[in-house]
Amino acid sequence: MAHEMILVETQGRVGVITLNRPQALNALCDQLMTELGDALRTFDADPAVGAIVITGSQKAFAAGADIKEMKDRAYPGVYFDDFIGKRWETVLTIQKPVIAAVAGFALGGGCELAMMCDLILAADNAKFGQPEINLGIIPGAGGTQRLVRSIGKSKAMEMILTGRMMDAQEAERANLVCRIVPVADLVAEAVKMGEKIASLSAPSVAMAKEAVNVAYETTLREGVRFERRLFLSLFSTEDQKEGMAAFAEKRKPSFTNR
Ligand code: CAA
Repeated sequence: MAHEMILVETQGRVGVITLNRPQALNALCDQLMTELGDALRTFDADPAVGAIVITGSQKAFAAGADIKEMKDRAYPGVYFDDFIGKRWETVLTIQKPVIAAVAGFALGGGCELAMMCDLILAADNAKFGQPEINLGIIPGAGGTQRLVRSIGKSKAMEMILTGRMMDAQEAERANLVCRIVPVADLVAEAVKMGEKIASLSAPSVAMAKEAVNVAYETTLREGVRFERRLFLSLFSTEDQKEGMAAFAEKRKPSFTNR
């Protein structure tokens, strides 16, 4: 599929997808989300890629769903089209780790897309917000749920009810992002993290990601049970033998993803 609204490249073993609709601050229109889903699935299927980065421009990761595209839409058309439905959630189906590298605005659906990724690395100029309330709607791509789980009820409630934006420092204090880096280094830092992940054993990376994400969605007891099943299953891999033998022999492991 030819892409018009995203840029797609590999840097080493990391697939990098850059949202590229600068005239609309990367507003997430249907076409952009279709292209993004296509690129994510392609990288997920590519054995040469071990991790994926989604980023935007220095001014905007994404300023939300495309307001101009949706302003005249009506019910039940949006219901039957599954608007903001499965197409937006492709990122949740990807087995490889997906890093959101966020500079500038991550608003509305932009903040929600970042939260659907496995982790968020923020530039020092990042701004997060759920301003949908100003439009007479509410977040529609998981914002009311994921923001609460990520930063707690009071802060999420304030942001969602007032539309207030959070800067990178506050987002780091609130655990929305893993780390802040200078905006000029953002993509390089995200790729470096992706390279580290890609150098490890792919089955353990995919299962670690799956187990952490399950913590979001289930009870502690069920989550620990799920983790243990995956943990024990990894004893069937050659990489587990290699990783532990390499430790005992004081050498670097050579993983084969088997
Ligand atoms: N949809 C469509 N176009 C958008 C857009 C959006 N979400 N955000 C920005 N744009 C467009 C603007 O209309 C403008 O286009 P024109 O030059 O053709 O007028 C261009 O991008 C540049 O934007 P601004 O001139 O507004 O730039 P600014 O620097 O003055 O302001 C901003 C930046 C504060 C991010 C402002 O653009 C803004 O408030 N954007 C909307 C944010 C928003 O409400 N997001 C939520 C969308 S709803 C949603 O996401 C639902 C959901 O949960 C899935």
